Amino acid sequence: MAERTSEVVVIGGGLIGLAIAWRLAADGIQVTVCDPTPGSQTSAVAAGMLAPVTEVEYGEDELLALNLASVAAWPGFAAELEELTGRPAGLNRTGTLSVAYDTDDVAALRRLADYQRRLGLEVEELTGREVRKREPLLAAGVSGGVWVAGDHSVDNRRTVAALLRATELTGVRFERQQVSRVLTAGTTAVGVELADGSTIRSAQLIAATGPWSAQLQGIPEELRPPVRPVKGEILRLRVPEAYRPALHHTVRATARGFSVYLVPRPGGELVVGATTTELGYDTRVLAGGVFSLLRDARMVLPITDELELVETVAGLRPATPDNAPILGASGLDGLLWATGHYRNGVLLTPITAQVIAETVRTGQIPDLAAPFAIDRFSAPKVAR
Ligand code: GLY
Repeated sequence: MAERTSEVVVIGGGLIGLAIAWRLAADGIQVTVCDPTPGSQTSAVAAGMLAPVTEVEYGEDELLALNLASVAAWPGFAAELEELTGRPAGLNRTGTLSVAYDTDDVAALRRLADYQRRLGLEVEELTGREVRKREPLLAAGVSGGVWVAGDHSVDNRRTVAALLRATELTGVRFERQQVSRVLTAGTTAVGVELADGSTIRSAQLIAATGPWSAQLQGIPEELRPPVRPVKGEILRLRVPEAYRPALHHTVRATARGFSVYLVPRPGGELVVGATTTELGYDTRVLAGGVFSLLRDARMVLPITDELELVETVAGLRPATPDNAPILGASGLDGLLWATGHYRNGVLLTPITAQVIAETVRTGQIPDLAAPFAIDRFSAPKVAR
């Protein structure tokens, strides 16, 4: 079988893999991306929220720092992409409104706002009336909210299209097939074998394999990353002209204890998400998932009933035990991880590409990304 070489091989052509490939190719490095259908999986399903503040979880302070760095990097990343490709990168800088329905929902939102302020984040608490002033079509039952000016959204399908063009323009090669295994020589990764049996030799592999990371063959069992798929169902609705814009900002809602988000796109699309289910690699859209998303969406935005249901789709989030990504060294020389982005893949695309490109250039992971090394999951060494 034919054997080729490439300075860098990126395994996985989702947003993360494509952005890394673009960055490296722009530095003059010869890059090959291996993926049967680049940009078609989780990257195309996601709602595209850039929400480090409104999605912050208690105790995830290091992840917050990375998320904030990436939301700050997004405008420059989008501008560069647009300048190179002449295509929209999809960034919508419209801010985010977190709203709460009943009094228990409001209490939970206020507690979270206190935590956000303790972290030094900018949040502005609003009454129900103030919320409806910003979003007049929200239900009269919405009792309060929090305005976050710095959380935005991106039309991730546009970003994928722009990145595919950017990689093409910078000379990235594509192998539209599965990597069947990583090739090793001792403790060094030396290339990949593809589904058709051909191989690509490379001194530098980057695995941007998302929810399939733990299945990458050829890697010793003890070095496999603890990444599992977490299913999310998402709806795409079309807002009739008469109601546009149904929403001016991304709205995250807690409605009777359930969470839902509604992400408006400039062209009249409204993305509603997302369920969170541990069902392995199952990507069927279940009636119960669609029901719960619509039930919660219409509670906060009653005109949901009048919108056309255009698409129902499910994707797999690559989750890790602490919800944070795995970046950098893998335990095999020549293989770096860029995976496990869980709920923050779109958000973390620019910073991940920056961090991995710098690691390839210097051999050293930047300080900001050091807490996300895979060895944080290793058992502590006990002195005997
Ligand atoms: N970040 C949104 C989600 O994971 O559903």
